[in-house]
Amino acid sequence: MRHTRVIVTHYGGPDALQVLEEECPEPKDGEVRVKVLAAGVALPDIMAREGVHPETPPVPFTPGWDLVGVVDRLGHGVSGIEPGQMVAAMPISGAYAEFVCLPQRELVPVPSGLDAAEAVSLVLNYVTAYQMLHRSAKVKPGQRVLIHGAAGGVGSALLQLGRLAGLEMYGTCSSRGASAVSDLGGIPIDYQHQDFVKESHRLTSEGVDVVFDPIGGAHLWQSRKALRPGGRVVGYGNTSSLRGEGLSSSRPGRRNRLHGIPIFGVYIAGGWLLPGRKRVVPYSIQWLKRLRPAVFRQDLIALFDLLKQQKIKPLIAQRFPLAEARQAQELLGKGGVTGKIVLVRTGSSVESRAA
Ligand SMILES: NC(=O)c1ccc[n+]([C@@H]2O[C@H](COP(=O)([O-])OP(=O)(O)OC[C@H]3O[C@@H](n4cnc5c(N)ncnc54)[C@H](OP(=O)(O)O)[C@@H]3O)[C@@H](O)[C@H]2O)c1
Repeated sequence: MRHTRVIVTHYGGPDALQVLEEECPEPKDGEVRVKVLAAGVALPDIMAREGVHPETPPVPFTPGWDLVGVVDRLGHGVSGIEPGQMVAAMPISGAYAEFVCLPQRELVPVPSGLDAAEAVSLVLNYVTAYQMLHRSAKVKPGQRVLIHGAAGGVGSALLQLGRLAGLEMYGTCSSRGASAVSDLGGIPIDYQHQDFVKESHRLTSEGVDVVFDPIGGAHLWQSRKALRPGGRVVGYGNTSSLRGEGLSSSRPGRRNRLHGIPIFGVYIAGGWLLPGRKRVVPYSIQWLKRLRPAVFRQDLIALFDLLKQQKIKPLIAQRFPLAEARQAQELLGKGGVTGKIVLVRTGSSVESRAA
C-alpha cells in the first residue's frame, strides 16, 4: 500500500517542502501504525523548516509536531489497544504523513465523537497553555495576566483556559486579531500601535501578575516591565528569530537553532538578581513531556474531557489537505491567522466523528 508524506529537503522557505508518494511504513516491535486524520500546522514547524528551532531534525525530515488518527496496524508485542481506536500523539516531527508508526507509549486515547481537527489543536497548543497556566504560573482566580500573540494558536488557547480559570486577561495582537481576543474574554492591546508596558500599567495601575511571552529576546525584558512586584514572565518561544536579523534565507550561516537561548539565561538570572521580585521562567512542552511523560498524558486527557464537555472550543483557522502543506505553512508564515491551521485527510471529520 502506498501513502503520501511531506518532507523538508533543505533548511529554508516554503519551497523546501516536497510531497512524496512511497510505500506505507510497517510498524516495528512495540509500535503502532496510525492512519493520520489531522496534523497540526504550527509556528515551530516553520521554525524547524527554517532550521532555527531547538528541535530541528537533520534534513530531510517530515515536519509535524502533533497528530490525531486511528489505530491501523499493531506491531509485535503491542496489546491493550485495538485497530479503529482514535488516538493522539506529539512526535515533534513526522506528523505530515498519511500513515505514521509510533511506539505504543506515545499514544493517548481520544474520546469518541470528537472532531479530529479540534482534537489535534489540544495536543501542542492547549497542553502548552494549560501547563503554563497551572504548572508554571499556578494562576489563581482574579489574577491579571498579559498574553502576547493572543489571537494565535497558543494565545487563543490561553484565553479560553484563562477564562475558565477566572482570570482578568489582556492580550497583545495586531488589529486583525482584536475582535477574536475580545470574543474570548481578553482586552486587546494592539502591539503594532500601542506600548504594551504602558497599557498594562494604565489598565491595572500596578502591573499584571503574569505575562506569557512567546516572542523572546529583548521582548522578555519589556514583558518583565509590565509585571507588578512579585509577578513572573513565562517565556516559551523565540518568535523573534523568525523576523529580521535572526533569519535570512539568503544567509544560511546565520541560522542557529539555539539562537536566543543564551539571552534567555541572562534574563532568568537578571530576574533573580535585580530588585523588584520579578522572575522570568522558561517553559518547554517537549522537555516537560520527556521528563514527566505521565503529566503530559494526564493534562491532555483532562483537556479532551473539557472539549467533550464543550467547555473549550478550539478556533480552527483553516483545514488544508495534506498535499497542500506548503500553502498551509505559507498562510501561517504571513501572519494574521486566528486560531489553528490543520492538515486533514479528506473527509476526516466525518470519519473521526464515526470512530
Ligand atoms: N515552549 C513551548 O513548549 C512551546 C509550545 C508551543 C508553541 N511555542 C511557541 O509559541 C509561539 C507561538 O506559536 P503559535 O503556533 O501559537 O503561533 P501563531 O498561531 O502564529 O501565533 C502567533 C501570534 O503572535 C502574534 N504576534 C507576532 N508578533 C507579535 C508581537 N511582537 N507581539 C504580540 N503578538 C505578536 C501574531 O499576530 P499577527 O500575525 O496578527 O501579527 C500571531 O497571532 C512560537 O514561538 C512557538 O515556538 C512554544
